[in-house]
Amino acid sequence: ESPTPVIVAIDGPSGTGKSSTSKAVAAQLGLSYLDTGAQYRAITWWMVSNGIDIDDPAAIAAAAGKPEIVSGTDPQGPTITVDGVDVAGPIRTQEVTSKVSAVSAVSDVRARITELQRTIAASAQDGIVVEGRDIGTTVLPDADLKIFLTASPEARAARRSGEVKGSDVHSTREALIKRDAADSSRKTSPLAKAGDAVEVDTTELTLAQVIECVVTLVEEKRAGK
Ligand code: DC
Repeated sequence: ESPTPVIVAIDGPSGTGKSSTSKAVAAQLGLSYLDTGAQYRAITWWMVSNGIDIDDPAAIAAAAGKPEIVSGTDPQGPTITVDGVDVAGPIRTQEVTSKVSAVSAVSDVRARITELQRTIAASAQDGIVVEGRDIGTTVLPDADLKIFLTASPEARAARRSGEVKGSDVHSTREALIKRDAADSSRKTSPLAKAGDAVEVDTTELTLAQVIECVVTLVEEKRAGK
């Protein structure tokens, strides 16, 4: 028999291993995977490409409904397109990274992207792992399992600078702390741990250990259902 779809929400700041963990857990358990940060990066990329003033929230809000963002949810090869254009590369540039917090703080942007996320989660046949900042608190408050990943700022900066070519740990740490502060202090659904989320501190753990920990938690949930 096929088990009922399981919805897993994984939240936390950047550099905690959210993406690597979420993808691996989804692949291992045969679930879909959604990177919601990629969606916010995609809409930011569109705003920048179309000359929208990032310092003008009203201009961002007015344009929020224009781009068509489509996410492919296969954990072995997730995809993201804007108006049919593959933007997987361009959304990872320093420019987009430095502007994404401002764009994702605009409530019309969040309303639009949140609706997209709920539609995707509801249509995932076997279930889905959704990673982000506000999944357990706002997007999917009824998720079967909520995980909140944390790590020390040093560990997070070290992981991120390992990922981004030509970056040093110090400047990565500064940029990362600034972005987390912006994401945590915005008015509309900030980065936050849901009351019923399981917190996993990954500072002293290997990626394999984090994956195993989350897979076990999902399996326990499924067995108890
Ligand atoms: O996970 P990431 O670094 O790719 O996310 C990029 C930005 O998108 C992050 O700085 C804040 C925003 N974001 C958000 O506001 N809500 C989410 N659920 C996911 C990401």
